Amino acid sequence: MDFITSTAILPLLFGCLGVFGLFRLLQWVRGKAYLRNAVVVITGATSGLGKECAKVFYAAGAKLVLCGRNGGALEELIRELTASHATKVQTHKPYLVTFDLTDSGAIVAAAAEILQCFGYVDILVNNAGISYRGTIMDTTVDVDKRVMETNYFGPVALTKALLPSMIKRRQGHIVAISSIQGKMSIPFRSAYAASKHATQAFFDCLRAEMEQYEIEVTVISPGYIHTNLSVNAITADGSRYGVMDTTTAQGRSPVEVAQDVLAAVGKKKKDVILADLLPSLAVYLRTLAPGLFFSLMASRARKERKSKNS
Ligand SMILES: NC(=O)c1ccc[n+]([C@@H]2O[C@H](COP(=O)([O-])OP(=O)(O)OC[C@H]3O[C@@H](n4cnc5c(N)ncnc54)[C@H](OP(=O)(O)O)[C@@H]3O)[C@@H](O)[C@H]2O)c1
Repeated sequence: MDFITSTAILPLLFGCLGVFGLFRLLQWVRGKAYLRNAVVVITGATSGLGKECAKVFYAAGAKLVLCGRNGGALEELIRELTASHATKVQTHKPYLVTFDLTDSGAIVAAAAEILQCFGYVDILVNNAGISYRGTIMDTTVDVDKRVMETNYFGPVALTKALLPSMIKRRQGHIVAISSIQGKMSIPFRSAYAASKHATQAFFDCLRAEMEQYEIEVTVISPGYIHTNLSVNAITADGSRYGVMDTTTAQGRSPVEVAQDVLAAVGKKKKDVILADLLPSLAVYLRTLAPGLFFSLMASRARKERKSKNS
């Protein structure tokens, strides 16, 4: 056994580790090259994950087009980015384009403006979104529609408006920031979970259809992130929720999640879950043991109802 260990197994083990290390290094170098000078459009760049994505893509040498509804916040972010000199690669002054994702007419005009910035788009990061809190019975259909307009129809319209130029160049990459709630639904989040399930489905179809043009599609499904998403969420009657939920406050830092998004895009990953072990396991439970998953969700709904009524 000793002989076998010293002459075969150990060298084989070190050989495999070496090859794996080399492969990872190669992936890292290729990822960096892919992002340097790439024209990257980020929606929802005024806040939270989008703002942090803007910082990491900028530092990676990307040519940014930052989008949002609040022009002042985008200008402030551009000032912040261009004032920082802590990067080793050449950086580029970002452009800003303001529009509301619920306004389909504005999206067509915005896409034309985006294309004028650098002449083309390499990577579109569909990040902007809103969340929702409420019971299905109390929620007006207008609220369901508003969440779908922002999280689903808006990104779909922007993607469709930018795709023809990508197809022409046979080059492009569409990124959708979905959510773990795009893979499983939790109670009192119906409109949000529905919009993210629709996002997952649409971009999965897109990936298959775009393969012929060599256009990449990445769907990223984070768990809780410590941003203002719950504060900015809308409720059953459309008013602002305005509360920082404990789950959101205990979520991952948006800085870390943005770095994971950058790495996933650099590696051209197709589908990524960025969540802790428990929510990640719940996704598999939903598929492998749906009965058990549904019981757990019903019990969660009972508990939440009870705590609201007490
Ligand atoms: N935070 C989490 O726990 C979590 C978990 C999983 C997935 N996500 C996803 O991550 C993405 C970013 O959210 P976040 O956590 O960073 O939340 P956030 O801080 O509230 O940021 C949301 C961004 O979306 C923009 N936005 C909202 N409605 C818009 C509209 N109608 N038109 C254009 N832009 C609009 C906001 O711009 P304004 O400044 O104009 O409002 C803001 O920049 C979302 O897609 C969200 O679903 C978040």
